[in-house]
Amino acid sequence: MATYLVTGANRGIGLEYCRQLRERGDNVIATCRSSTQELDGLGVRIEKGIDISSGESVVKLVNKLSGINIDVLIHNAGVLEKNSLLELDPESIRRQFEVNALSPLCFTRAMLNNLSEGSKVVFMTSRMGSIEDNSSGGSYGYRMSKVALCMAGKSLAIDLKPNGISVALLHPGLVSTGMTAFTTQGITPSMSVQGLIRRIDSLDLENTGSFWHANGDMLPW
Ligand SMILES: NC(=O)c1ccc[n+]([C@@H]2O[C@H](COP(=O)([O-])OP(=O)(O)OC[C@H]3O[C@@H](n4cnc5c(N)ncnc54)[C@H](OP(=O)(O)O)[C@@H]3O)[C@@H](O)[C@H]2O)c1
Repeated sequence: MATYLVTGANRGIGLEYCRQLRERGDNVIATCRSSTQELDGLGVRIEKGIDISSGESVVKLVNKLSGINIDVLIHNAGVLEKNSLLELDPESIRRQFEVNALSPLCFTRAMLNNLSEGSKVVFMTSRMGSIEDNSSGGSYGYRMSKVALCMAGKSLAIDLKPNGISVALLHPGLVSTGMTAFTTQGITPSMSVQGLIRRIDSLDLENTGSFWHANGDMLPW
């Protein structure tokens, strides 16, 4: 039984990670700003009041988790705000950069004492953070923040390899959640997370630093 920490666990993909990991018998620590009935009903450990962009709440969490080894740290929390060229909102771009890129990096740094040889760190990035794959433009804040997240993950993969810690950058596919206004074009959180967990299970020091689609395809940077 491994211990997983999932951020942004109250809904969407984060909630589904908690559900599937719990179902297969893993230990789950679910962090969120505020819980939901669905998360409360899973019977996992819930740490509420955790805003990943607040240094204060991250320190509070780290103090509570002192001495607990985390086998898999899943940085799932994220935000998507639309920013077209003509409606550029620098404040929105800064906010997305803060939540999607800088906070997961700082959170990992804060949790280093909870990671050990064999631990894994997972960043939920997006294909929209692939420069090569960008054929539709726009979404400045989201795209820029996810590219930055990919770069943070790649550097961490190199820096943490000597400690035996592996890192993955994962794209969940187009998933029907609040973030995508529950699009009918997308796959369900359940389908996405089945693939994501397979990727995490196969993550090791040989393939650390890879950018994968949940379906197993290797994505271009
Ligand atoms: N859905 C897709 O098609 C898709 C595609 C590519 C990548 N992704 C990535 O997958 C991850 C999960 O997406 P999703 O579709 O499940 O999104 P979602 O349904 O909108 O859920 C986002 C989660 O992030 C949390 N969150 C946002 N800002 C936070 C903060 N400052 N501190 C703590 N938690 C925060 C939200 O908590 P609150 O309830 O408190 O707001 C919520 O739990 C994200 O990183 C997203 O970028 C999703």
